[in-house]
Amino acid sequence: MTDKVTVPHIRSRKGGPPIAMVTAYDYPTARVVSEAGVDVILVGDSVGNVVHGFDTTLSVDLDLMVAHTAAVTRARPRPLVVADLPWMTYHVSPEDTVRNAARLVAEGGAEAVKLEGGSRRVAMIERVVDAEIPVMGHLGLTPQSVHVMGGYRVQGRALEDARRVVEDAHALVEAGVFALVLEGVPDLLAELITKEVPVPTIGIGAGPHTDGQVLVYHDLVGYSFGHQPKFVRRYADLAAVATQAVAAYVRDVQTGSFPSDEESYHLSPEVAAALLGDHPSGGRSS
Ligand code: KIV
Repeated sequence: MTDKVTVPHIRSRKGGPPIAMVTAYDYPTARVVSEAGVDVILVGDSVGNVVHGFDTTLSVDLDLMVAHTAAVTRARPRPLVVADLPWMTYHVSPEDTVRNAARLVAEGGAEAVKLEGGSRRVAMIERVVDAEIPVMGHLGLTPQSVHVMGGYRVQGRALEDARRVVEDAHALVEAGVFALVLEGVPDLLAELITKEVPVPTIGIGAGPHTDGQVLVYHDLVGYSFGHQPKFVRRYADLAAVATQAVAAYVRDVQTGSFPSDEESYHLSPEVAAALLGDHPSGGRSS
């Protein structure tokens, strides 16, 4: 488990063993998730929600994503690092898209980029892949389309919608994606796409029959607030642990038990005596 995870390795995981992907947005989290054995770190634009407190991901810009990606890659993590292209960085033109993707790689150190959407994104994906930057697709509930979807709703329930998601999956594979995130779609639809496409599918709210799963780190460790979708499994309650720790610190400050003698720096006895000689009213009260 010591080799760096690469794009060809992830591609080779089609059909198993299952791929574990998790988000990380900073250096310590990258250390933790790398040590825990995840295969792929996603520097997701969900950073806008869980770290910066925005209601949607639409306020996230490229500078923010570059900064968070660089913080993650400074940890030199073993997992593959994929960074999200934020909204409006891959919607204007293929040239604009490739320049933006290149910033995530050159300045952030990302090894691949992810972008949301189906057939309409094909020209952009082809251009980025042509520039030797691996692309991960993202279909189904695509959070950057929140206003078009009318909220964060499961996609592909109606027959026509399900057919569109399947067609989009094929279009993205044709365009050259090396993996595909399926978010917020019925389990059968995710299973069908997983069986049909030659690249690994990574599900979130897409049931158990994909080639891998992804969760947002803050949801997984219980360090996020507000509504939790039903697909989230919380493995810890870090918010409670952190609150208890900080409350204990507050108590110790208030009672004077922090810092202790061991947690303080001391003058040598000679310097202390001389200094107190200069300032007879100074020094310890007891
Ligand atoms: O930004 C993100 O965290 C994501 C995952 C939910 C797939 O795109």
